[in-house]
Amino acid sequence: MEPEIGKEIRDIALRLATVMESDHDLLPHLRAPIPVPVLVDALAPAPVREPEPAPVREPEPEPVPAHAPVPAAPGTAQPQPPDLSADVLSLRDVVETCARCTLAGTRTRVVFGEGPVGAKVMFVGEGPGEQEDRTGRPFVGPAGQLLDRMIEAMKLGRGDCYIANVVKCRPPGNATPVPEWTVACAPYLERQIELVRPRVLVALGTPAANFLTGTTLGVVRLRGRLHRRGDIPLVVTYHPAALLRDPGLKRFAWEDLKMVMARLRGV
Ligand code: URA
Ligand code: SF4
Repeated sequence: MEPEIGKEIRDIALRLATVMESDHDLLPHLRAPIPVPVLVDALAPAPVREPEPAPVREPEPEPVPAHAPVPAAPGTAQPQPPDLSADVLSLRDVVETCARCTLAGTRTRVVFGEGPVGAKVMFVGEGPGEQEDRTGRPFVGPAGQLLDRMIEAMKLGRGDCYIANVVKCRPPGNATPVPEWTVACAPYLERQIELVRPRVLVALGTPAANFLTGTTLGVVRLRGRLHRRGDIPLVVTYHPAALLRDPGLKRFAWEDLKMVMARLRGV
């Protein structure tokens, strides 16, 4: 087809040139066969320039917050341990408004407990005292200051420990918790232990020891040996308030804390 078109155009041009006899120099060129590609180019509509595509900007990577989990490389996905901090916070929200026992009517603040999920040691006391009731924080009064020194003596910081109580609201006059309160409050401590999953549990004083061992024996009978609560090692020792009243008991408490340290070392 294309040689035909070329020939036709050449013939028209030749006739035109002959008729007009205007440009004799053109005739030899027109008589010569015109190479087809030149013609095709000439007949082709002016190439429409494709508009340059707008440069596609690579999206800026989102800044990764320091605490965001690093995504695993494809094919190496590791199951992440569940982050239970949010569950602790939800539990705290529930306990903050709890009215399951009569202590709800006399407390100033609920003392939920504090410390990190996965704490090495979880200390369990009896219940908030005057300063704890006022501040909403566990073990901040005189007994708390001694507990801080005990933690230091173990070469730990308060931030390594979770600190909670058997009852979350202050018994009036710092009374020893009665079953009505401890039974009502028990599910909260149970859940805290499940969520924190400490390496070692330490019961401070008889009410905590009774709760955690499920016995009614006193500290004198329970201390000095290793117990277990489920799969978590449990050590019973004197409450720091008892140590303040009777400093002669401190050497026994120190023996108990050394057992805790040995468990943390894995011995
Ligand atoms: N005594 C406790 O048993 N718990 C506290 O939080 C403070 C003192
Ligand atoms: Fe609720 Fe426990 Fe306080 Fe009773 S002591 S009101 S059960 S949080």
